[in-house]
Amino acid sequence: MNNIRNFCIIAHINHGKSTLADRFLEITGTVDKTKLMPQFLDSMGLERERGITVRMHPVRMIYKLVNRQFESLYDKQKLNSKLQIGSDLEKVTSEYILNLIDTPGHTDFSYEVSRALKAVEGAILLVEVVKGVQAQTVSHYKLAKKENLKIIAAINKVDITQAEVKRIKKQITHLTEIPEEEIFEISAKTGKGVKDLLEAVIYQIPPPKPLNDQNIFKALIFDSEYNPYKGVIAYVRVFDGSIKNQDKIYLLGSGAKTEVKEVGIFSPQLTPTGILKNGEIGYIVTGLKDIHQCRVGDTIVFDAQTLNFKLEPITSYIEPKPNVFASFYPMNENEFASLKGALEKLRLNDAALTFEYEASGILGRGFRIGALGSLHLEIILERLKRDFDVNVITTSPSVAYEVVYKEGGKIFNKIVTVPAYLPPREKIIEIKEPWIALIITTPTLYLGAVMDLMNNYRSKFLHLENIDEKTINIHFEVPLADIMEDFHDKLKSISSGYASFDYEFLEYRPGDLVKLEFLVHYEVIEPFSKIVPAQKAQSIARKNCKKLKEIIPPQQFSVAIQGKVGGKILARENIRAITHDLTSWMYGGDITRKMKKWQKQKETKKEQKKFGKVTLTRETFLKLLKTHT
Ligand code: GTP
Repeated sequence: MNNIRNFCIIAHINHGKSTLADRFLEITGTVDKTKLMPQFLDSMGLERERGITVRMHPVRMIYKLVNRQFESLYDKQKLNSKLQIGSDLEKVTSEYILNLIDTPGHTDFSYEVSRALKAVEGAILLVEVVKGVQAQTVSHYKLAKKENLKIIAAINKVDITQAEVKRIKKQITHLTEIPEEEIFEISAKTGKGVKDLLEAVIYQIPPPKPLNDQNIFKALIFDSEYNPYKGVIAYVRVFDGSIKNQDKIYLLGSGAKTEVKEVGIFSPQLTPTGILKNGEIGYIVTGLKDIHQCRVGDTIVFDAQTLNFKLEPITSYIEPKPNVFASFYPMNENEFASLKGALEKLRLNDAALTFEYEASGILGRGFRIGALGSLHLEIILERLKRDFDVNVITTSPSVAYEVVYKEGGKIFNKIVTVPAYLPPREKIIEIKEPWIALIITTPTLYLGAVMDLMNNYRSKFLHLENIDEKTINIHFEVPLADIMEDFHDKLKSISSGYASFDYEFLEYRPGDLVKLEFLVHYEVIEPFSKIVPAQKAQSIARKNCKKLKEIIPPQQFSVAIQGKVGGKILARENIRAITHDLTSWMYGGDITRKMKKWQKQKETKKEQKKFGKVTLTRETFLKLLKTHT
């Protein structure tokens, strides 16, 4: 165990984690240089294209460290070419197993990051030299600190500029209290300083320690995937004892029992080893068929141990809960079966994805999708298109609401993800919505602009926190629904791309929320309904009525479009009737004949207006919703 180091790289998005991992793979010879494409560990097509890490990618590397007492000798001898590589080198070096977990940087996946941090003893905190400390630098650092990890700080991309190094060092020291002289300066691109950083992992990060001395086997699942041939594969960190093929295991969180089919390590491909020992990171082929039985955060023990010991999980196990919802309908109605099949396959590998059947009179059959956040939702969409060739249309994302209502003298609570499922207005006692703690990290220059922007949301300013004289953290609380649509783009645009944000779920809080309904020709069109803050209901109603006016084709009669809350109409637009001049073909002639025609037309229109029905086509809806092809 003394020669094992388990570590993560944590950073804000795009600060260079995956590129640094590439260099480590290269230095340790884990991946052949000719096969090493940039961001090697980002194996998913989407990850490579967008430059984001979505899945975690553990890898085991072997590094031969020249023992310190031989360092000078080794260099000298190597220079004189006297050292026989192989025999002599073995004598003066020690071999280390370095287990690296590359983590996803985005907020949506912070639960996974937190579990990855549980699986290691140390972390490299990587900060880019141009942008400096950003929102996720702060939040991930705090998570790592909470786990008591040894943190090594490094400034990346120093090949771009040296000018900012001093300032960024100050920022890091301010955040972490790591002395400036201990902060590494590297370029993951050129490799400068990377070897020293890797060796610092060995020198500074402690080896794994057993949890207890009873040698009871325990392993933490920090990720899992479904393999069509092998079933569910758990990515684990062994905390005590060891595990072999055919051992009978039990999962404390899900209660699943199974027999181990295979164990092995990531090199970086799955490589069977027959045994995984204390302190190691590797995989277990569980033989389970359902990923929901083998989720991130669960603890694996031996089935037999459960008889004799009261076993505590390594860490609390949380079932990932979707925060963001949207309806997906296939572009072509006859693609419903393909969409269903694709979602089922996606769910095999994504325990955080939920979906339930939904039908709409106009849109046909579809699904209500639940995801961890907007990026997660986008990834699901992309994968449907890319991996399964299913094109879908989606409603704009919304959050889940907790509704307290009265029925038959009793009080009930329910979570509602679609306005249609709200109980009738008179039964509702209150509607609660999710609130988040939001941190915006920005150069001080944009402080005013950020405050102005936040005034447009129902935000509560908490406090400011200096990172250095030029950068601050601004803390807010805000309803999640407010930041879902275009907040990211707006924040980037007011800060020339420099401000960044991160958030954490707080709780459901009562809100002054109402159901806004839209009527087309006096008929409520349920899929258009929204749950909105009462104070914004009118402006949202106006905006949406205008939009509907643009896309609903004119009818033979004039059509009213209305937005209402309860019995109150808040906005109205009219679509004028199509006018045909029924008399244009009558050249000259008797005016009374023409008037008769006009009168008849007027009456028919009146009739139509009274009894007419606006048939909204699928196409109309498609125009209103986002299309993803
Ligand atoms: P996420 O996976 O989204 O969290 O990003 P990441 O932190 O893994 O960043 P990634 O390694 O994908 O690098 C982001 C971009 O920065 C890529 O275009 C890299 O080529 C570039 N980059 C990374 N390191 C360096 C560096 O040392 N110097 C320069 N000039 N560019 C770098």
